[in-house]
Amino acid sequence: MSQTKITVRDNGPLLITCPVEVLDAEGKLLPIPAEKAAIALCRCGASANKPFCDGAHRAAGFTSAVRAPQ
Ligand code: FES
Repeated sequence: MSQTKITVRDNGPLLITCPVEVLDAEGKLLPIPAEKAAIALCRCGASANKPFCDGAHRAAGFTSAVRAPQ
């Protein structure tokens, strides 16, 4: 398996390359369609489909632009 990559999107979600497993607090797998190349996890708190991003960050006016240190 290749190394998982997580990209912090400007003003949006965490984009995570598949394959990846997402578990709930009880250790149960959340369904992720097999054909997905990546998933997006909400980091704004406004998604109605947590932990996944549903695009609500735009209407919520979420702003965050993370940059790695130079
Ligand atoms: S980051 Fe997209 S809905 Fe929260």
